[in-house]
Amino acid sequence: MTQTAQAPNAPTKTILRALAGEKQAVPPIWMMRQAGRYLPEYKATRAQAGDFLSLCYTPELAAEVTLQPLRRFQFDAAILFADILLIGQALGAKLWFAEGEGPRMSTVTSRAQVAALKPAQDVHEVLSPIYETLRILTRELPRDTTLIGFAGAPWTVATYMTAGRGTKDQGPAHAFMQADREGFSMLIDALTDATIEYLSAQISAGAEVVKLFDSWAGSLKGADFDDFALQPTATIIAALKARHPGIPIIAFPREAGDRYIGFAKATGADCVALDNSVSADWAAAHVQVDGCVQGNLAPKYMVEGGAELVTETKRIVKTFGNGPHIFNLGHGITPDAKPENVLRMIEAVRG
Ligand code: CP3
Repeated sequence: MTQTAQAPNAPTKTILRALAGEKQAVPPIWMMRQAGRYLPEYKATRAQAGDFLSLCYTPELAAEVTLQPLRRFQFDAAILFADILLIGQALGAKLWFAEGEGPRMSTVTSRAQVAALKPAQDVHEVLSPIYETLRILTRELPRDTTLIGFAGAPWTVATYMTAGRGTKDQGPAHAFMQADREGFSMLIDALTDATIEYLSAQISAGAEVVKLFDSWAGSLKGADFDDFALQPTATIIAALKARHPGIPIIAFPREAGDRYIGFAKATGADCVALDNSVSADWAAAHVQVDGCVQGNLAPKYMVEGGAELVTETKRIVKTFGNGPHIFNLGHGITPDAKPENVLRMIEAVRG
């Protein structure tokens, strides 16, 4: 027996090893929105589906677009193709995507409307095709690739459900919160319960990791951040870990700034995803000290390319090189990005 023999249950996939706290000479890589409009094959499959929601709800096509980036790039993970707003639809809100404009939803702005939402255990009726997508992927993914499921965090989903669309300042959600804090908390609680059901079913269908996207966490300050970003995340993580012992969870409180500090400890997350508004030096000193971090190259480099793309990528890898790290962008890749820049990024990471 050698001293270096791995524990019998130690993970072998690179992403799972990072999430278990292992520092690796070359960090594993995947990319937010890695299946998306910067790929011509994505646009073709989306056209075949007819519209974005049909793509999300047709398991064979959703699995196909999930796999497309893996045929071009050697990513260490695949992320389920779906959207964070589907849960609102599963709770009874109307959801549609206005071509070229983004999501639209019917609005929930009062306690009575929150009370009229469906109960959490009913979300599976609408969301079952998503679980089928995951089951297909468990059969078709390359064996070393980790399958990531996801949901929006309650606050971020609530910002769309109150406004009926994306907003710059999340004004309608803040207005509901200010007018009736208890009523707004009921919405957050309903989303928290539904998200536990949804992610738990994703894990049962084959997701090996789940990620919570709190894209608008940065607009919550002080006690509002504690009550509506941190606490719901902690509740979801505790419930998932009770039902699925050992399931690794990535939290992404985007633009949380100083509130990134201690977020993993306070919520039980195994990894905190960093947006590109925080510097890697700062995050290594203040966030990675608690465990795995993911991030955080600015998505603009996937558009601009050039020598800076390589220097920035190498700088981030080096800065997080003393601890567990999953290389990623700080936010989703944009439709104007060039696939050849993704290749250059991967080469720069792997040296
Ligand atoms: O990362 C992945 O590749 C997995 C799939 C995924 C999508 N959306 C596909 C998508 C994930 C994880 C999301 C998350 C999501 N969706 C978030 C959180 C992450 C973030 O970007 O901050 C948010 C806020 C949404 C809501 C949403 N969906 C918006 C605001 C939009 C329109 C904006 C845009 O980028 O066009 C979408 C549409 C959407 N979701 C697209 C994709 C690939 C583009 C739809 C299309 O094909 O036209």
